[in-house]
Amino acid sequence: MTEKADLQAPRPVRDSQSEMNEIVLPNDANPLGALLGGRLMHWIDLAGALAAHRHSRQYVVTASIDHMDFLVPVHVGDLIILRSSVNRVFHTSMEVGVKVWVENYHKDICKHVSSAYLTFVAIDSEARHLQVPAVIPGTDEERRRYEDAGRRREIRRANFERRRKNAL
Ligand SMILES: CC(C)(COP(=O)(O)OP(=O)(O)OC[C@H]1O[C@@H](n2cnc3c(N)ncnc32)[C@H](O)[C@@H]1OP(=O)(O)O)[C@@H](O)C(=O)NCCC(=O)NCCS
Repeated sequence: MTEKADLQAPRPVRDSQSEMNEIVLPNDANPLGALLGGRLMHWIDLAGALAAHRHSRQYVVTASIDHMDFLVPVHVGDLIILRSSVNRVFHTSMEVGVKVWVENYHKDICKHVSSAYLTFVAIDSEARHLQVPAVIPGTDEERRRYEDAGRRREIRRANFERRRKNAL
């Protein structure tokens, strides 16, 4: 197999699994010491890009981020854990899931803060879109995410089309 063919070979989800950790510092927080939603969104984008880069082995741009809820407050000094992996590849785009946890290392408790689905498009240095190798789900959880990602893509496309028409 040539090197180019190797790059297009399907890859298991586990190859894209990534983890990013952050300690919340005063500059990440509002005057009450609570983590800014925008800072968390930035970290989610980066954590998602890690998985997209690892899977595609290409440059990527963020095409969209789906709806997000912030489920519990996070404070200065807290430890944030972001886990990401590629759920499904379409053609030049891929859906990445990012799940965020806050860890209280004094009490050894982790709480779910937020989850997000991001779509990344693989591009070359001239911004031309590139075909992304298929992803192979290996566990029941990965297969569920793969199936759900197909349904989410249809909803995303329908909503995008509706917004486009409303903007005309
Ligand atoms: C995202 C972007 C590459 C899409 O390019 P485009 O030429 O409009 O899109 P196309 O219709 O050719 O679609 C290309 C792929 O992107 C997907 N896509 C396009 N817009 C999308 C959106 N809003 N959400 C999810 N996927 C999207 C398409 O489904 C398609 O996927 P596929 O090849 O796997 O089937 C382009 O809009 C762009 O460069 N946007 C700016 C990205 C950026 O700078 N992000 C950082 C934040 S500013």
